[in-house]
Amino acid sequence: MRISKTSSSLIWILLFYIVLNFSNCYITNQLGLTKEKSDNNDLLILAALAGLNSDYVWDLPPGFPVPRVPAENPMSQSKVNLGRHLFYERKLSQDESKACASCHFQNLAFSDGRSVPAGITGQVHPRNSQHLSNVAYNTRLTWNNPNMINLEVQSRVPLFGTSPIELGLSGESYLGKLKSDPTYVDLFNQAFGGGEASINEQSVRFALASFQRTMISGYSPFDDYQNGNRSAISASAARGSNFFNGEIAECFHCHGGFNFTDTSLHSGQSNAEVFYHNNGTHTVAYYNGLGDIHKEGLKEVTGISSDQGKFRAPSLRNVGLTFPYMHDGSIMCDDGNNPKITSGKTNEDCARDALGKVIDQYTNGGVAPVHTSVDTSLIRSFAIQPQEKQDLINFLLSLTDQRFINDSRFSNPR
Ligand code: HEC
Ligand code: HEC
Repeated sequence: MRISKTSSSLIWILLFYIVLNFSNCYITNQLGLTKEKSDNNDLLILAALAGLNSDYVWDLPPGFPVPRVPAENPMSQSKVNLGRHLFYERKLSQDESKACASCHFQNLAFSDGRSVPAGITGQVHPRNSQHLSNVAYNTRLTWNNPNMINLEVQSRVPLFGTSPIELGLSGESYLGKLKSDPTYVDLFNQAFGGGEASINEQSVRFALASFQRTMISGYSPFDDYQNGNRSAISASAARGSNFFNGEIAECFHCHGGFNFTDTSLHSGQSNAEVFYHNNGTHTVAYYNGLGDIHKEGLKEVTGISSDQGKFRAPSLRNVGLTFPYMHDGSIMCDDGNNPKITSGKTNEDCARDALGKVIDQYTNGGVAPVHTSVDTSLIRSFAIQPQEKQDLINFLLSLTDQRFINDSRFSNPR
């Protein structure tokens, strides 16, 4: 589906405004919405205007909604091109040793295969590197920070953050390095105009955001199946999908919708949906014993004690590639990096093994003893037959999108 947003007619904008206001009131009245309402209509109008004024043509999988784009950073192909270069650019680290891509590998759906990564100084990050498939739709970014409202804001953390140091940039020397490279002078000029002056901190972040918004994954065998090709996945995977969406496993409550997460946002929605859950990975024993502020989840940011151990439910797209799992990378297969070494394992063997452990954690109702912030109506032990477990794993593996991980538009341009 190709959607062009070239129309800038005032009539359309007014119509949009009316429909938006109507649907907003309607939904709120009908459902007595308790969901967090974190955006207001004015911002939406601005976003819509930016979308309409942009000549950017989205290349979206069938049925996918158009991502929401901040008004101040409308999409353009030239920004996407620049952002792609910057994503792979080691000059964006203080010692030129790492780039964004050092922790986000395309062949792993932009995760990195490690439990937790290290930045340029070797300092270890307290959390697992997230995959970036469909990151454009995430209402909030990172595992647990509700202040990370968009990609333009988020990239400040890896670029300049000190707790932990990731790319470790300080001062403006990195801008000097970009300015002395004629390729970048040209790319920035095409994206933002204004020659060398356009090479600044904000345009770096904006271009990175535009590129990442194009990382859209929607061509997995399961998508193909949902679009009518009944032979795209095995009978086992199809049964697994039913189990995932049923009231025994309850998975869909937190990993539902087209992006397999309950925290997503796109242009067809009027309100941002923001949810954090403790899925039982974070235990009372852990909290009382080793209490590490970086692993407190949402509470680290809000300071509210009932937010202890709550994290954003990750999108399960490409989950067959994104192990080790959970915010701390605590669920992994038995492979060469683990104590129980089993040689000759393929990526799929490892994914099956690790996903089996994830399912075991859920069927046990979380890691005992569970913390009080666990919603025990959804996270509680349940019985699963060996065949049902295999079905669920086969379903989760059918979310791997080969086209996404091989798409040359996302690869290193140099
Ligand atoms: C040292 C490894 C490392 C580097 C380098 C790195 N990241 Fe990450 N990335 C992570 C980790 C770890 C997380 C999870 C952060 C958290 O929860 O606090 C993450 C999270 C993200 C997210 C949030 C994804 C989501 O679904 O919420 C985005 C977007 C992102 N990184 C983009 C980037 C960009 C852009 C760069 C380069 C400017 C970059 N990363 C560099 C490790 C890294
Ligand atoms: C109450 C909400 C909730 C329910 C129900 C739930 N999950 Fe999760 N899921 C989460 C959260 C939150 C995380 C991240 C937890 C963390 O990082 O500590 C997660 C993480 C995962 C991960 C790891 C993904 C990654 O990239 O690290 C997988 C796989 C997963 N869930 C599968 C399932 C399956 C299968 C079910 C049903 C048996 C299920 N979930 C039910 C909330 C939920």
